[in-house]
Amino acid sequence: MSASDIAGLDPDRIRELFDLRSSHNAYTGGGYHDDPNPAWRVLRETGPVHVGIVHELTGYDQPAFFQGLPFPERPHFSVFSFAACDDAFRDGETFASSPEPLEGIDKTQKIGPDSSMLCMNGKEHRRYRTLVQPSFVPTRAKWWMEKWIDETVHALIDGIAGAGRADLNTDFCAAIPMLTITGSFGIPVAEALDLRAALRIDQLNGADTMVNILAPVVAARRESPEDDLISVLVQAEITDEDGESHRLSDAEIYSFAYLLLAAGSGTTWKQMGITLAALLTRPALLEAVREDRTLLKAAIEESTRWAPTDPMFSRFVRRDIEFHGVQIPEGAVVHLCIGAANRDPARYERPDEYDPTRPPQPSLAFGNGPHVCLGMHVARAEMAVGIGALLDRLPNLRLDPDADAPQIIGMYERGATELPVLFD
Ligand code: HEM
Repeated sequence: MSASDIAGLDPDRIRELFDLRSSHNAYTGGGYHDDPNPAWRVLRETGPVHVGIVHELTGYDQPAFFQGLPFPERPHFSVFSFAACDDAFRDGETFASSPEPLEGIDKTQKIGPDSSMLCMNGKEHRRYRTLVQPSFVPTRAKWWMEKWIDETVHALIDGIAGAGRADLNTDFCAAIPMLTITGSFGIPVAEALDLRAALRIDQLNGADTMVNILAPVVAARRESPEDDLISVLVQAEITDEDGESHRLSDAEIYSFAYLLLAAGSGTTWKQMGITLAALLTRPALLEAVREDRTLLKAAIEESTRWAPTDPMFSRFVRRDIEFHGVQIPEGAVVHLCIGAANRDPARYERPDEYDPTRPPQPSLAFGNGPHVCLGMHVARAEMAVGIGALLDRLPNLRLDPDADAPQIIGMYERGATELPVLFD
């Protein structure tokens, strides 16, 4: 990865793939342009668990899909309180991450999100997650910054610094997580956008494109490992339930890659945009963060609480259960509305206010329990390095007063419309 490769990324293609108003984003409810929080407040106040699906209960009548949807043959419930969402995240036995038990699927042969650890349960999930966890612990954040994040951030700022204006959402935020995770997989910058297009949630045959791009890298790292994440996967040994160990098969590596490349490049850019929108529309707060960088960490954390980019994740219920006063049958899908949970007044005072000075209190933006976000420390590092460098390098950074103010839109993938800024 070099600065000139990064400068060569096609801005129109980035805009097409990342603009939340483009057709690529319709699948997850990109057409939803309202603030869902008033509806979620009413739902939370009228009960922690409701029959139905989050977007329909919120009043959005267009199709929208995400994890746990559509499954029309199953009963659906949605959960809106912090306590109930947290209980479900923590109880992976009752609230499973796959519609059916996955134990029968041969992971050494089948590639795709369904055989990735996101959908696994129990011991099998732990065995796979343990292989990559050491690359994602907080002390490893420096490794991610020095190898991929710093260079990407500064190359992107080099590209906009002379113009005096930019749309930070697509000119800046979009490429940082994408190039960080593709860099860690040894994928050339020139192929990063093809991969991004292939791995979107609405693409059914994306795995073939990904395999074509990754196969030469896997072969090269098998010959000669380097200091990157794909080398970790190529060298990893997994111990089966019967105690036998084997190096990961190609399919196992590609399933890991599918999950990490999709999760790594699809989320953080939107959360960085939400954080920037929150700060840019509050100039006094932006100034305070510029003056005292120790506030930046809290500004990022508060944005994940106040407006988590993925406000819903789902679970499949494995047994009949009474859950927070509601009978839920085995086989039902339960949608955990993180966005509503993160504004539960039982946990947060003045929950609708974006206030980085509030007492720290973990939210559910990164989930909880066995599937808690593996990449959260990388995501935090990307946002802190990115926003910190903007404040260092673009004097008098401010919203363009003549452009439309940023809006946060989208149902299941929320983010800013645009971040039109000026600087000196
Ligand atoms: C602000 C950015 C991010 C947010 C809000 C976010 C949110 C989440 C959430 C809520 C989950 C739990 C899903 C569930 O319980 O079903 C999750 C899982 C996951 N995330 Fe993130 N994520 C972010 C960034 C990242 C990044 C940068 C990476 C990789 C570099 C990543 C990799 C993963 C993986 C691999 C899982 C699955 C973990 C497992 O199943 O054990 N995420 N993320």
